[in-house]
Amino acid sequence: MSTAGKTREELAALLAEHHLIGAWARNNAPPPRAGKTAAYWRWDAIRNALLASGSLVDIGSGGETGMRSVTGVEARRYPVYMNAQVLMPGERTQAHRNLRSETRLVCEAPPGAVFVCEFEAYPMERGDVVVSPPWTYHDHYNGGDEPAIFVDGYDNGYNPNVNVNEKLPGGALYEEITKPDGYTHDLRGNVRTASNEAPFPLPPMRYPWTETQAALSAIRKGEVMPDPYEGVYLTLASPVDGGPTLPTMAWHVQLLEARQKTLSHRHNSTTFYHVFEGGGVTVIDGERREWYQGDIFAVPPWTWHSHENATRDDAILFSIDDWPAMKRLGFYMREEGGPSR
Ligand SMILES: [Fe+2]
Ligand SMILES: [Fe+2]
Repeated sequence: MSTAGKTREELAALLAEHHLIGAWARNNAPPPRAGKTAAYWRWDAIRNALLASGSLVDIGSGGETGMRSVTGVEARRYPVYMNAQVLMPGERTQAHRNLRSETRLVCEAPPGAVFVCEFEAYPMERGDVVVSPPWTYHDHYNGGDEPAIFVDGYDNGYNPNVNVNEKLPGGALYEEITKPDGYTHDLRGNVRTASNEAPFPLPPMRYPWTETQAALSAIRKGEVMPDPYEGVYLTLASPVDGGPTLPTMAWHVQLLEARQKTLSHRHNSTTFYHVFEGGGVTVIDGERREWYQGDIFAVPPWTWHSHENATRDDAILFSIDDWPAMKRLGFYMREEGGPSR
């Protein structure tokens, strides 16, 4: 499907057909679909809509901070959700900070594209996850010559009624980059500042794909048994206490080997998945949901689910899950051993 030369009407039709909303048209959301597997969106449609919006929609149209994003119609009803953004060459969003966690997974980006968070630039490379915790300033800049596309993982904040949204002091639009490359990473790795108390705001963090990939392949080389419910399953750990990525939600990455099928389980936290590589099926309360590279889908709370890699190659899924918030607040439940098919 070509994205060149699309009209605004064609873009609107593409979004509606694939149950997506552009940030510039949030007030025109189509009705949500019903059913357990309804929170599901194809990457081709998301990517084509983003690229078409790059030439049709001004970056200021997605809100005053200048986002150009596409969200699934059903996504925002969940406590955590994913959407996708595009930044065209030369574009920069306006800096702000607010009281929710904003996290990003890079899908494609040219050299020169960076996330800026707390006055430090984090390069965008495919598979990197960059975390902007609540009340950290953030903006994004594409200094390269190709579009930069990334998936956002958000929590909705503890309570939307107590959110606070603030721009930079003095009316500045963009953060000045005052910290050297790798600053936070170097201070928050295995060698770190002495205090282990959680500061506020929490530090931003970049999880480079090179490190995630090294961890996945180390597990396989070490012949560690895959988790029967998840396959090879890793957490992107908090740089403060080594626990889940953030107090409200965790990023995970999992690898399903060729033809692997997991056992069924359910929990009352919500999981959003982005298919990083490969293809497969997730069975959700008996409904089979196929997925392909790039797709985004949700497993709703308290639904039995199991995964299946339908191909002869590895499949890699990134996910966000609000189990940390649920657990800390005393609401988390998990059960294993449900029907797998
Ligand atoms: Fe933001
Ligand atoms: Fe699960």
